[in-house]
Amino acid sequence: MYPLLKLKQPTNRQKRVLYSILVVCLVSACDGSGPTESGPTDRTRGLSVDAGEAYFATTVWPLLRTNCADCHSDLALTKQPPFLASDDVTAAYQAAKTQIDLTEPAASRLVVRLRNEFHNCWTQCEADAAEMERQISALAAALPANYAGEAAGGD
Ligand code: HEC
Repeated sequence: MYPLLKLKQPTNRQKRVLYSILVVCLVSACDGSGPTESGPTDRTRGLSVDAGEAYFATTVWPLLRTNCADCHSDLALTKQPPFLASDDVTAAYQAAKTQIDLTEPAASRLVVRLRNEFHNCWTQCEADAAEMERQISALAAALPANYAGEAAGGD
């Protein structure tokens, strides 16, 4: 049963989870495509997967899947590591998190590659970099302030 319905104080962990859900809803305008359908809100098991991965799945990953999978996927004809656009979100997250700087999204390798190195932009590099930065900021905002998980720590 949904533990928050019990008549007792929510634990700090539950409060943190609720807070992250709220922040993600604000960021994603609760359009139904957010993490409300998976991971962090799994009501029977609490945080069933690493929060970073769960939010990555609804922010940065879709952008990588759409624009980088022709090369950076284990399924690509020309498989090019890192497999940050893998079909498998866990594999993609493992490959991408070292390219993400949660503290300073603009300094993320994923952003710098587009903005400064013009690496396979899909429209215009500056606009694409801004979109990547926006998704990384959304990921950072979704995570609890004290998130330590498998923290993406910059490059
Ligand atoms: C047409 C194939 C192709 C596409 C599409 C592509 N890449 Fe790459 N990527 C490469 C190749 C080849 C390398 C290795 C050589 C190099 O570093 O440029 C690479 C390397 C990388 C690296 C690791 C090396 C480094 O300098 O950090 C990152 C990160 C990266 N790409 C990000 C991206 C992102 C983000 C996208 C999607 C916007 C993307 N790539 C799309 C071919 C591609």
